[in-house]
Amino acid sequence: MSSTPFPPELLRDVEKRRTFAIISHPDAGKTTLTEKLLLFGGAIQLAGTVKARKSARHATSDWMEVEKQRGISVTSSVMQFEYQGHTINLLDTPGHEDFSEDTYRVLTAVDAAVMVIDAAKGVEAQTIKLLEVCRLRNTPIITFVNKLDREVREPFELLAEIEDVLKIGCAPVTWPLGMGKAFRGVYHLLQHQVLTFTPGEERRSDAEVIKGIGNAVLDERFPLEVGQLRDDVELLNDASPPFDLDDFLAGRQSPVFFGSGINNFGVQEILQALIDWAPPPQARIAGTNSTGTRMVQPAEAAFTGFVFKIQANMDPKHRDRIAFFRICSGRYSSGMKVRHVRAGREMKLANALTFMANERVIMEDGVAGDIIGIHNHGQLQIGDTLTEGENLGFKGIPYFSPELFRAARLRDPLKSKQLQKGLQELGEEGAIQVFELEGGQLLLGAVGVLQFEIVAQRLKDEYKVDAIFESADIHTARWLTFPDDVTRRNFEYEQALRLGKDIDGNPVYLATSRYNLEVTAEKWPKVRFHATREHG
Ligand code: G4P
Repeated sequence: MSSTPFPPELLRDVEKRRTFAIISHPDAGKTTLTEKLLLFGGAIQLAGTVKARKSARHATSDWMEVEKQRGISVTSSVMQFEYQGHTINLLDTPGHEDFSEDTYRVLTAVDAAVMVIDAAKGVEAQTIKLLEVCRLRNTPIITFVNKLDREVREPFELLAEIEDVLKIGCAPVTWPLGMGKAFRGVYHLLQHQVLTFTPGEERRSDAEVIKGIGNAVLDERFPLEVGQLRDDVELLNDASPPFDLDDFLAGRQSPVFFGSGINNFGVQEILQALIDWAPPPQARIAGTNSTGTRMVQPAEAAFTGFVFKIQANMDPKHRDRIAFFRICSGRYSSGMKVRHVRAGREMKLANALTFMANERVIMEDGVAGDIIGIHNHGQLQIGDTLTEGENLGFKGIPYFSPELFRAARLRDPLKSKQLQKGLQELGEEGAIQVFELEGGQLLLGAVGVLQFEIVAQRLKDEYKVDAIFESADIHTARWLTFPDDVTRRNFEYEQALRLGKDIDGNPVYLATSRYNLEVTAEKWPKVRFHATREHG
């Protein structure tokens, strides 16, 4: 008899999964890296496929009007491919500056992230935000410092900036040999060899490898650059902590690779790091009726998982909604019956979709780490758990405190019921956050300004409501918890003007400025102000 409590086949399949996202500031090279990863993974045959999708979305199978008008990807999609006996799920995140809460929530469904840094620019604003979200779950981060074929910043300076600003240790795994026009390749600090780079060369599979940092071939070939490399490597050996797998898995240290995505250089090393070091699907904490909480192991036989994103109208012909569902344990099979825990009833899962690069394909088989798309007519919400019977609810799919606010006003006041209904539904779907103020006024909150445009468009198309969103003098929102009823009542009395309720009726403090928030928090030390709240 096997000593493992888990079905061995399931365990084997789970161990092969790697589910990750790429995080970066716009223009750092995420689309390019995505494309090259898919190319190496054999998921696409032609360079340019993903880029074409980004730059000419109107020409492809696009879903939403706003996407067409703006030519950008509003919502994230999922791409699955096989690489060296592993099944890789790459969850795409919107790359435009106007990213949305979806971007954040996608990061709750991955086991690792690849962070792309533009070597000329260093750490940028959106990277900081995205890394903060990764930190909520201590997600392991692999760093790719991109665009070494350009004149860029000193690598030591870049590492210091990553460590300072992002508060994560850096363990360089490769190190650049020259840069810009004189970019000659990288030295692999663990394999002790130089991987050479030839400008303009597309694939690197047959590229030359020169073993040993002291190798005389290096002096012959790269007389101008090799001295600097040797100095750097000596310094690194003395001063930089080596790569530590445990620190990486705990989210404390990031292995750093230098390269040039557009030239395919460094891409294979990223894939290798994902396979060798990134974790397979991890156990996840779930609330239960009986024991409070328990860890759900990915190779448990019973199927479980949660919805982390709802995408509306992917197919304009059907106007359907797709719930993106991360499997956390067990095995998906078409036609299976599952329990919709929040609704307290059974539902049948059939014709779930998987996502291969550009296409949607009917899913045959899925295990922990895989993402399936479930057709949804409003019954599923973000954060919902489906199980094979057990009453449990996964934790850690948060609402994030919005950073942008608008007050909703109707052009036609007679449509207020439709507006309420529309915002309630779009709020439940996670397209926008909705707060109700004293007196019933509705306030919308988002992390990206595009969310407002999408909601305005959808209110018009789907609910026939013409709403105007006016700027609101609010800086940020904090969910509140109180130590006792007396404190709550006193707080409500004093702060009535600054209070609202979210879509589930939870109290929220709406601060007019950072200063306002600090002063209030200082004055009410027992009241807790939370920047995130869990769904459900
Ligand atoms: P994003 O998804 O993070 O927004 O970035 P994307 O991949 O679209 O890359 C942004 C720009 O940076 C693109 O140039 C892309 O070609 C360029 N780029 C990506 N990787 C590298 C690299 O390794 N070296 C250099 N030199 N450039 C790189 P663009 O001019 O905006 O677009 P395009 O006209 O090249 O398509």
